Amino acid sequence: MNDAIAVRDLFKRYGNVTALNGITFSVASGTIFGLLGRNGAGKTTALESCIGLVRPTSGSVRVLGLDPARSKDLGRLRGRFGVQLQTTSLPEKATAREILDLYAVYYGLKPAADAMAARVGLEGRVDRFVGVMSGGEKQRLALALALQHDPDVLFLDEPSAGMDAYGRRVLWTEVERLKRAGKTIVLTTHYIEEADRLCDDVCVIQYGRIVARDTPVRLVERFGGDASISFDAEGFHLDSSLSSAGVWTHEESHWSVVTRKEPGQMLAAIVTHANRSGASISSLDLHRPGLEDAFLAITGERIEETVPEAAA
Ligand SMILES: Nc1ncnc2c1ncn2[C@@H]1O[C@H](COP(=O)(O)OP(=O)(O)OP(=O)(O)O)[C@@H](O)[C@H]1O
Ligand SMILES: [Mg+2]
Repeated sequence: MNDAIAVRDLFKRYGNVTALNGITFSVASGTIFGLLGRNGAGKTTALESCIGLVRPTSGSVRVLGLDPARSKDLGRLRGRFGVQLQTTSLPEKATAREILDLYAVYYGLKPAADAMAARVGLEGRVDRFVGVMSGGEKQRLALALALQHDPDVLFLDEPSAGMDAYGRRVLWTEVERLKRAGKTIVLTTHYIEEADRLCDDVCVIQYGRIVARDTPVRLVERFGGDASISFDAEGFHLDSSLSSAGVWTHEESHWSVVTRKEPGQMLAAIVTHANRSGASISSLDLHRPGLEDAFLAITGERIEETVPEAAA
């Protein structure tokens, strides 16, 4: 598979702030690539280096074989990529339709504001002024603008920020549809569920460095740790087979076990043993490791989980 994007040894310094401390990654054509990291990790700087908005201090970037830091290459790239920035300033006194139509004219397309609005969940709101749109609605409009000229490569910076649950679902469905259409998508997020659901590959970025890269499933396998089960059971005692299947702790009737065994099987073994020995289980909790556990293990930090709800 060809690489749509290749970034090598990229550094970006602002005075004594090092925003990017030598990052290298590539993105295969037709895949969804995620930059996952906390606030200030360098996600936007990396993405904006790929679209010619940030001029790297050193290192190289190639998008579809072209260098976005060179104005001639950038001119050739413009129609081939679409960008949804983290913050987009759109004219407040224009309607969504007027802006979509203006972009359509710029790219030499037939105006299709209603169809574009429907794709991003803005049906019926296309004649609203930007000034009265909610944060999430503005993000959806920005997404429509990124998509309208049907680019091969999409850069989405925190695409679900400010969106409510419905907006996120529309966005994720649209991103999955774009992938099926063969597009290459780079997105930044600090929303674990978004990275998990959408991305073929995830780069964990911390303090301007890439500290891990893999598929979400492999990141969890490599770094997520073991599953754990905890339960309350009066009269419960371990037998030798359960005892050797994990690392147990207990305090009075509250028991916990960390196990490398398939957690569903371990759960069944605990319940069977409790029933046979006459112990009664009053509560039971199974924790399977997820991408959030992997992120914590990789970075030593928790990621901000909450996505601000939009006042839709
Ligand atoms: N123009 C600038 N001048 C000075 N420092 C900057 C500039 N742009 C970014 N930085 C710094 O570079 C670092 C990386 O910023 P960046 O915006 O890339 O982070 P991010 O991962 O996108 O964060 P967020 O999740 O908050 O969007 C931060 O410490 C930031 O303060
Ligand atoms: Mg950012």
